[in-house]
Amino acid sequence: MERFDEVISRRGTRSVKWDMAEDLYQDKDVLPMWVADMDFKTPEAVTNALKERVEHGIFGYTLPDQLVKNEITNWLEKRHQWKVDPEWITYSPGVIPSLHMIVQSLTDIGDHILIQTPVYPPFYSVVKDHGRHIVKNPLIMKGEYYEIDFEDFERKIKENHVTMFILCNPHNPVGRVWTKDELEELATICLKHGVKIVADEIHADLIYSNQKHVPIANLSEQVNQHTITCLSPTKTFNLAGLQASYLVIANKEDKTKVDKQFKNQGMMMLNTLGLTALETSYKYGESWLEELNKVLENHRDYVMERFHNETSSIRVIPAEGTYLLWLDCRKLHMEQKELKSFMQKQAKVGLNDGASFGEEGKGFMRLNIAAPKSILEDGVSRIINAVQSL
Ligand SMILES: Cc1ncc(COP(=O)(O)O)c(C=O)c1O
Repeated sequence: MERFDEVISRRGTRSVKWDMAEDLYQDKDVLPMWVADMDFKTPEAVTNALKERVEHGIFGYTLPDQLVKNEITNWLEKRHQWKVDPEWITYSPGVIPSLHMIVQSLTDIGDHILIQTPVYPPFYSVVKDHGRHIVKNPLIMKGEYYEIDFEDFERKIKENHVTMFILCNPHNPVGRVWTKDELEELATICLKHGVKIVADEIHADLIYSNQKHVPIANLSEQVNQHTITCLSPTKTFNLAGLQASYLVIANKEDKTKVDKQFKNQGMMMLNTLGLTALETSYKYGESWLEELNKVLENHRDYVMERFHNETSSIRVIPAEGTYLLWLDCRKLHMEQKELKSFMQKQAKVGLNDGASFGEEGKGFMRLNIAAPKSILEDGVSRIINAVQSL
């Protein structure tokens, strides 16, 4: 576990989380705990493969071969019991670009697309930027957890003639790992009303004990034909800067349309080093991932315990997966602007603004726990001390 305790400075590496934070917060002393990447080194086997590739010294045009596809299909089968035909795979530099391509190629201007809020902010822009309309199916908080309002889901689909649903599983920011039953209910409604499912499963590998990620496309052949899944090793192995991801599209007609959209935008190749990272992380990274998930779970428990024991003003929503914790700060009774300013200026931590995830995120902030324990302890203490001094 020691490898996850090492504090490595990321300043001066053009890191969005660390270097941009200074501009954003205008304060060097704010501890960045926002953007969803990790302050951990990627598995050594991946770094070694990258070094070897760099040593070669020639970085001409590169194409993925069967070896890369084999690692992807092996990974999905081994980790998620999902047998994927290599023919269903399309490469993409990232899940966000994929979402843009999907919306543009599989819906029309003026179409209605449903999302479950609060949700990862780009879910709004990938719809709105292309002249499509957002339909919201807000998640509801029941006790400690968020749940899906299925009645509202179906009603909104019918009322708005929704043609596409973008699912976030596991869900960022509320941390739910949707169960098979929940996914079956969603899929049944989508099939009944001819709604295409887009599953953003980028957090699929970051799952805590007693939880199981179920790829929605793997529920049945019918659902598979109706679903486009976006996946990537970049969250799992901390490779976001290398930009290598992929889609799984079993429906031939849909795949042709999405592929054409990528081609029309001139996006036909991946970064050479990204391909090496994609192949080798899946090939060699499994035991590293098992360790990582234990560390993250320990971090989640630590944060929950500290807030629970030391303040009643902030409640941590218990995440079932992802390394993002959703903090319910409503008991601080602050306007969102005041809450943001409080975290930044008093607590001196850089968190994501809950309201950026939608109206339903007001009164919340998002905390990234994928950092060495000493940094996490510092961040949590800063928040608790600031709350206690109010
Ligand atoms: C749900 C979700 N989708 C997509 C992304 C970003 O994907 P990419 O970096 O591959 O564009 C993130 C990153 O935080 C995310 O949380």
